[in-house]
Amino acid sequence: MGTDFNAEETKRLVQETLQKMRDYCNPSLARLLKFTGYDTVELEAQGAVIKDVYGREYIDCAGGYAVFNIGHRHPKVIRAVKEQLDRMPLSSKVFLSKPMVDLAELLAKIAPGNLKYSFFCNSGAEAVEGAIKLARLATKKTRIISTIGAFHGKTFGALSATGREIYKAPFRPLVGDFTHVTFGDPEAIEEAIDEGTAAVILEPIQGEAGIVIPPPDFLVEVRRICTEKKVLLIIDEIQTGLGRTGRMFAVEHYGVEPDIMTLAKGLSGGVVPIGAFMGIPEVWEALSPNPLIITSTFGGNPLACAAAKAAIEVVLEEGLCEKAAYLGDYLLNSLRDLQVGHANIISDVRGKGLMIGLELAREGLGGIIIPEMLKEGLTAVYTLNNPRVIRFEPPLVITKSQIDKVVEGVERAVGKAQSKYSALFGES
Ligand SMILES: Cc1ncc(COP(=O)(O)O)c(C=O)c1O
Repeated sequence: MGTDFNAEETKRLVQETLQKMRDYCNPSLARLLKFTGYDTVELEAQGAVIKDVYGREYIDCAGGYAVFNIGHRHPKVIRAVKEQLDRMPLSSKVFLSKPMVDLAELLAKIAPGNLKYSFFCNSGAEAVEGAIKLARLATKKTRIISTIGAFHGKTFGALSATGREIYKAPFRPLVGDFTHVTFGDPEAIEEAIDEGTAAVILEPIQGEAGIVIPPPDFLVEVRRICTEKKVLLIIDEIQTGLGRTGRMFAVEHYGVEPDIMTLAKGLSGGVVPIGAFMGIPEVWEALSPNPLIITSTFGGNPLACAAAKAAIEVVLEEGLCEKAAYLGDYLLNSLRDLQVGHANIISDVRGKGLMIGLELAREGLGGIIIPEMLKEGLTAVYTLNNPRVIRFEPPLVITKSQIDKVVEGVERAVGKAQSKYSALFGES
């Protein structure tokens, strides 16, 4: 790793990049990045480490919001992508595509229950769009029950399922017939279901809501209710899937089998974007009368499918589910130990596997802790629907000694917040 620039040129490159971000992309995000200390330029990444143009290294605690499960630039995925690139990166869309069917076959082998068929697209939101359309098509009903705080993406259908007003209000009217109930409450779901209900859509653990883990019997109960009421269960594993929570899919913790499941993020191996929705045969049948009813020009492209197949093989071959479970416990317990001495700063630490949320006692504290963590060489981000929760979703290939460095860095960052606490909040 390294750059060919001297110190002066590097500084100029950073300033120019920030300026272009302001001038041509997103002025307010540019301001926010500068404010939080993220006004540097990423250069390259390997494993669990990102390097910027100054040569500074960061342990990637954010993990691209659960994209980099197998680490940055895993050699097996890079090799598979390079080979495919030299042969045929995008599909003609007129012939059969071997990389796509090979990936679908592998997914059918590892997916829970009877999920057998896959449709590939390019992002999480698109996968959710497809899942909702499939549910409506298969049931000939329209209502979708979602949950408050849920995050399913920002395209119109996915946004309608998303449960936070701030992202929805400016774009109304959204897609009709969506109802939101409390996450973790099976009775609320049962009450919301009526004769017009097509499906219930749930994240097994709400990610953007602040790493919210439901009561242990929640998903089992929802499964029972959906089966009894003949309503489809869509499980969104876009953030939780591919080993993140210590199992290949988070529903496996509860022994629940979805009718439809969405995937994206970690499925790409962190190299080429991909999204997918899967379905059981009884549901998939609804697509048969018109084989072109759901299509995507770039969806299922050979490059992305070769990457995803290699990425799944890495998760299996390197035992990354087991590693996430073991290292997740270690990180969770270490952060909980930290909470003991700083209860006025950290109000909760929760998670499953390497999907961990550290909840701050007050909203303003993140503005100190996140930039301090960055100075410690740790990337850190809030969850999108809950600015009091800092998430830890590092690559599952992170080592124990890197986790020790993370905890030491968080401890110093929390110490800084502690020393500024009374100045900020007028109490000690
Ligand atoms: C659970 C879940 N569903 C859907 C999405 C949307 O994915 P994308 O940003 O790829 O559209 C996300 C993204 O954070 C997510 O966490």
